[in-house]
Amino acid sequence: MALERTLSIIKPDATKRNITGRINAMFEEAGLRIVAQKRTRLTLEQAQAFYDVHAERSFYGELCEYMSSGPVVVQVLEGENAVALNREIMGATNPANAGEGTVRKEMGLNVQENSVHGSDSPETAAREISFFFGEVEIIA
Ligand code: CMP
Repeated sequence: MALERTLSIIKPDATKRNITGRINAMFEEAGLRIVAQKRTRLTLEQAQAFYDVHAERSFYGELCEYMSSGPVVVQVLEGENAVALNREIMGATNPANAGEGTVRKEMGLNVQENSVHGSDSPETAAREISFFFGEVEIIA
């Protein structure tokens, strides 16, 4: 199996409730290593650029406003099959449909305030990681 990296964002609903450490513990206990991390606040323009693949979706405007409404923690997670593993750890987009023990089931509030984002493929991960981090900022 290949060592892989994925981009994760702990979203404003989670930073607001001060549960970033609990979420990081879930990543680490499941075998992912946090190899880069920073707390930041996205501008509306950054959120729009990051989520541009969703520009045609009905929720795009609200999503970008929400993602720029408070602090986020952006991070690079590394591990065997990190992209797929992180999607398992997060659970379904809508917390109501997420499996027991997943981050979104345990922490998510609703389909928008779902506590975490994770890349959906290795190709997306490469694009999303470079959106936030230079190679020298990622220390394995
Ligand atoms: P994320 O994995 O970050 O990818 C896109 C985000 O859009 C998603 O998580 C949710 O936070 C948000 N979103 C809001 N409404 C919907 C919806 N109806 N379907 C999918 N994603 C939604």
